[in-house]
Order: sequence, then C-alpha cells, then structure tokens
Amino acid sequence: MPSSSSRLTGFYRLPPAERRRRLLELAALPAEGFAALEPGALSLDAADGMIENVVGVYALPFAVAVNFTVDGIDTVVPMVIEEASIVAASSNAARMVRPHGFQTVVSAPVMIGQIQVTELDDVDAAADVLRGHAEELLGDARLLVPRLAERGGGPIALEVRPLARSGADGGVLVVHLHIDCRDAMGANLVNTLCEALATKVAALAGGRPGLRILSNLTDERTVTVRCSADDALLASEAASGAEVRAAIAAASRFAELDPYRAATHNKGIMNGVDAVLVATGQDWRAVEAGAHAYAARTGSYRPLAVWRARPGGLDGELVMPMAVGTVGGALNVHPGARLALDLAGAHTADRLAAIVGAAGLATNLAALRALATEGIQRGHMALHARVLARAAGATGELVDRVAHELAATGEIKADRAREVLARLRSPHMVKESL
Ligand code: MEV
Repeated sequence: MPSSSSRLTGFYRLPPAERRRRLLELAALPAEGFAALEPGALSLDAADGMIENVVGVYALPFAVAVNFTVDGIDTVVPMVIEEASIVAASSNAARMVRPHGFQTVVSAPVMIGQIQVTELDDVDAAADVLRGHAEELLGDARLLVPRLAERGGGPIALEVRPLARSGADGGVLVVHLHIDCRDAMGANLVNTLCEALATKVAALAGGRPGLRILSNLTDERTVTVRCSADDALLASEAASGAEVRAAIAAASRFAELDPYRAATHNKGIMNGVDAVLVATGQDWRAVEAGAHAYAARTGSYRPLAVWRARPGGLDGELVMPMAVGTVGGALNVHPGARLALDLAGAHTADRLAAIVGAAGLATNLAALRALATEGIQRGHMALHARVLARAAGATGELVDRVAHELAATGEIKADRAREVLARLRSPHMVKESL
C-alpha cells in the first residue's frame, strides 16, 4: 500500500469487520479481498494436495501490525501468530521509530546449493580439477534454467571447499553452486540443479557423489535493517527516554556477551520474523535454521540485532539471512498468503525481505524496551486476562470488565474469570429481563 499511511491510530479498537474495510481501502483491494481468510478458503482438496494424510485445515489468527515505514514506504505488516502481544508490541515499536523509519539493504537473492563428493584419494588435486572446470559446470547449470537467466538470475559462481583429507568415507569436498533465484525462495530450483550436476562433478573429481541439496545458511542472501528511536518516544510512564535508551543499550550488550541471553534476544526477533513468514506463506523453518546458523557463524552464538545509544536516542541494526520468495511454493495454493503479500505491498522477494527484517527489529525493540522498564509480565498478563475472559464466555464490554478485575486482583486464572463473569452477568440479566 505505497500511497497510504500505515499510521492507523486506534486501529486496535475497531471491530474486525471495520479493520478489514480500512485495510481493503488502503491497499486498494476488492471488497471480497478477505474471502481469502474465511473458513474454507483453503479447501480440504487444496490442502490434500499440499501435504500427505490430510484430515483438516488448521486456523491461526491473522492480524496486521501498523505504523511501519520501510524504506520510506508506509507498510502494514501481516502477521500470523498464536502469541498475544507481538502484533501490539511491534506496532508500538514501529510508532517509536516512525519519524526516521526502517532503512534496509537487501543483498542479491543468491542461494547456495551443495554437492558433496566423498571417497577422494587426493582432495586437493580433486578440488583443483573442479576449479578448472568451474566455468564449464556453470555453463551446464545455466542451460538447465534458461527462464531464470531471462529474468536476470541463474547460476553465478561455483566454489570448491575441501572438508576432510581422510576418514571413513575417504577424502571429502563440497562444491557450492551460487544461484541468483530472483523472486523465488529457490529451494526446488537449487536442489534440481545440484542433482543434475552431481554425477559430472563427482566424475571430474574422481569420487562418489554424496548429498545434493541447498544450504539453509544463506549468508549470501541477507537483509540489513537499521532504525533509530529518539528519547522522547522511548520514554515510558516510569522511566525517562535517556534511562530507557541506556537500559536498552545495556540489554543489547548483555546479549552480545552471553549466548544464553542472545538465544532469547534472537527469539524476540523471530517473533516478528516468523509471524510475517507464516502469514506470507514462506518456509519459516528455513529462515529459522539460517538465522541461528548465522548467529553462531563466528563460533560463539551472537545476537542478530544490536542497539547503540547515541546522544538523544538509540540506533538499532539487524543483519540476518532472509531466504524468501514471492513466487512459487505455498503461494501457488494458499489464498491467505497471497492476500498477505497484497496487503503488505510485497510483490518482490527484496521488498518482502525488507518488511520481514523490519518486523524482526521492531519486535526486538519492543521486547527490550519492556524488559528494560516494567518487565513483560504486566502487559502479558493483561492480555492473558482478556484471553481468559473470552474463554469464560465474556463478549463485548464484559471482556474488558472481567479482564480488568482479574488484572487488578492479580488472580489471572480461568476459574476466577468464570466467577467474575457470572457475578457481572447477573445484574445484566436481571436488567435485561425487566
Ligand atoms: C518472548 O516471546 C520474547 C522475549 O523473551 C524476547 C526477549 O527476551 O528479548 C520477551
């Protein structure tokens, strides 16, 4: 939705039908746009064609985070997630950085395919032979994907990495085929090319072909996201902007010093990243695998995003692998995923990578700000109280009243929710029957 504002004040207070209306208008989508998310939109038949032994279709909440500007473009960010507070927290963080926005740099969409060769007597000699045939092998690979080449992509480099000189399976090396996949995530493409080239590669090397599969450590396909938040917007009820800024910088340093903290810090990033990946029909396991391998690439597990205090504010930077696509995969069959891309205005893999990265940096900022100030439990428990109120049967204004009473007494439990609801309901029912 390039031409419209994502600053949707009070959006969370609107009923879902009104939220839909506003989004369709903003994204200039037809009135029936949200049919893609209605029960049955992904038919049992279509689901049966996606995976094996299908017995149903599983639903999760679909929401949008608001207030984002990504590379100067106002963007609503579709999210599918079961955890309360991620959507609100990322919208809130996006509001804090909105005066500067999220700035991104997305690398070329280069994936790595691996062809393993084993049982080599002389790994170094085999590696030399393969390097000598690199252009020929790349030429063979290019002939197999002419349409990708027409779109400006295709195999671009071949690298040979000796892995072991001896062992139970003899000398081992791996050939890396670097492929520019354009707007596809590219898993099928990469695997097909690796399988097609493996026999020739092994014959040239004088060894035996082993595995032929992409690497999920897509360190050639990354997104870098930067943002800035000024003290005035970082301030909370209990702490000044300068205090929050210092506390977030210290929280970042904690993650940089300690892998136990870095894992949780990165989980906070993946809260935003995965939510967008699921909404847009991506292979989120691939991005998860890449993220954590990248975080550990130096030999110690590191945070994917860091924050630095500067006079008057805070600067954040996230760098992570981002193998996403806007063609192929689940997008061919999942109507909700297609709607998510339309709502976000993400029609290229680059743009989608930028938005996913911005969502990750936003959820990281939101988590650190909450942790550095009042802690996350108060907000979580308030949301949990609403979930319990609904589960007890509350609707309309009773949801807020039950939740408020649970939060006020600190007894956020299912049986208490039922009791409070029963008590609040009785005068209503009397009134209604009069
Ligand atoms: C919870 O889903 C995510 C956090 O633990 C992230 C963090 O600690 O930075 C709050």
